[in-house]
Amino acid sequence: MSTSQEESGDGQSMIRIFDTTLRDGEQSPGASLNTAQKLEIARALERLNVDIIEAGFPITSPDDFEAVQAISEIVRGCSVAGLARCTEKDIVRAAEAVKKAAKPRIHVFCATSAIHRQYKLKRAEAEIIKLSVEGVKLAKSFVEDVEFSPEDASRTELPFLTEVVEATIEAGATTVNIPDTVGYSTPDHFTNIIEYLMTHVKNITKAVISVHCHNDLGLAVANSLAAVKAGARQVECTINGLGERAGNASLEEVVMAIKTRADVFKARTQINTKMIYPTSRLVSSLTGIYVQRNKAIVGQNAFAHEAGIHQHGVLAHRETYEIMNPQDVGIPESKLVLGKHSGRHALRDRLLQLGIELDDKQLEMVFEQFKMLADRKKEVFDEDIEAIVSQLFEEAEAMRSWELVSLQTMGGSGVTPTATVQLKSLAEDKMYLDAATGDGPIDAAFSCIMRLTGVEAKLQEFDLRAVTGGKDAQGEVNLELVCNGKTYRGRGRSTDIIEASVLAFVNAINRAVAGRRKNGASPEK
Ligand code: KIV
Ligand code: ZN
Repeated sequence: MSTSQEESGDGQSMIRIFDTTLRDGEQSPGASLNTAQKLEIARALERLNVDIIEAGFPITSPDDFEAVQAISEIVRGCSVAGLARCTEKDIVRAAEAVKKAAKPRIHVFCATSAIHRQYKLKRAEAEIIKLSVEGVKLAKSFVEDVEFSPEDASRTELPFLTEVVEATIEAGATTVNIPDTVGYSTPDHFTNIIEYLMTHVKNITKAVISVHCHNDLGLAVANSLAAVKAGARQVECTINGLGERAGNASLEEVVMAIKTRADVFKARTQINTKMIYPTSRLVSSLTGIYVQRNKAIVGQNAFAHEAGIHQHGVLAHRETYEIMNPQDVGIPESKLVLGKHSGRHALRDRLLQLGIELDDKQLEMVFEQFKMLADRKKEVFDEDIEAIVSQLFEEAEAMRSWELVSLQTMGGSGVTPTATVQLKSLAEDKMYLDAATGDGPIDAAFSCIMRLTGVEAKLQEFDLRAVTGGKDAQGEVNLELVCNGKTYRGRGRSTDIIEASVLAFVNAINRAVAGRRKNGASPEK
């Protein structure tokens, strides 16, 4: 039986890392991933050596269910968790999804704060306890490893929270997670919550106490670390801090704080820190959500020294201005550039350093694209390779209904911007052609695509950047469309930025068409 007082051999407490990038992280607006992409991230999380992967919320859609099931089948080294509300249908679905996992976990939750009890659940305290206990017991009938979360715990009255935690441990929960669902807490407040539970919950040593913080006030990592100091032995976090609204506690920051300040936390994790940077890159390239330059640990500037005094200090003795070694988080010492003479071995090695492990068939497909690009560009950078791989995973999903065949645009001053677009309907194996005018050539091309596909969409966000430096750089467009009230992301890359925009638009339209086809329920998460 696990206890909240677990210690490693060296007297330091072992902190379990529960990664929820594929569940809470995927709830970030616009971060939705297909099953192939989720599997690739799950493999990277396994190499990172997280303790638990929360793979999804199986009841929310057939896609979520399928992804949790597929991840359960391939991941052997970590526990795989599926989220469920305290209802029979949620728990049965989660149990079915994690059934084949080497170490299955069901994570059940029920809101406990007064505001949620009154306005969301419309239930009295006694009913909440009953629901939670029944949920844990039902989950326990399927798996040994059951986690319970009193949602909005940080705004729950402490005596009531104590009752819920005690009752759910009694019912069989092996981990009890304390979420700061709305990112309201502060480090002192969180210390107080955990210390209170440690002293008031009679059976507290029978479960691992976990923490799950959101970043609405920018305090998610600080609050998680305060909980660790107060006795929490599991931290829930996400790669790059992805997550609902302002995100969750960032895995890389929590792990490196515990490692770098082991003197303060007297704790350690089993994370293979050298895989942090490659995993961060992979998640960013597959979700299309960039990491800010000055992001701690994994941002482009995290180990860059601009000021002369700093550069001089680092050259004389690295530790003068660096508290961590960039190689410890997997930042490569030098950037190896591949070119048209590079072979499969060099490509495979580079992919591994980028956190991407492909099977032979996938490698062959990437190699083909790489050779084509290397013919057009002298130097192929990491970002180019990541771009090819993320394209591969997009296309791996049978979600494409339309394909861009040709594009011609006309723009400039004194002319009416015009676009002629030819699309192929993959379902009908038939070509469609249309021409339109617009505010600019991109707008004109988007109008053509909407007419040809019959999908009405509103462009909500449009972001263009160069994937690498140099005048032959590929342009990458990430955009967001709203279609029937739902948001769909699309991405396209090309050395021609108008083509990149059109590819991104078609990609988002394909997602919207696939979304319309899906008939799964999507309950509130
Ligand atoms: O933020 C939250 O409360 C959650 C729970 C489901 C753990 O994500
Ligand atoms: Zn959350």
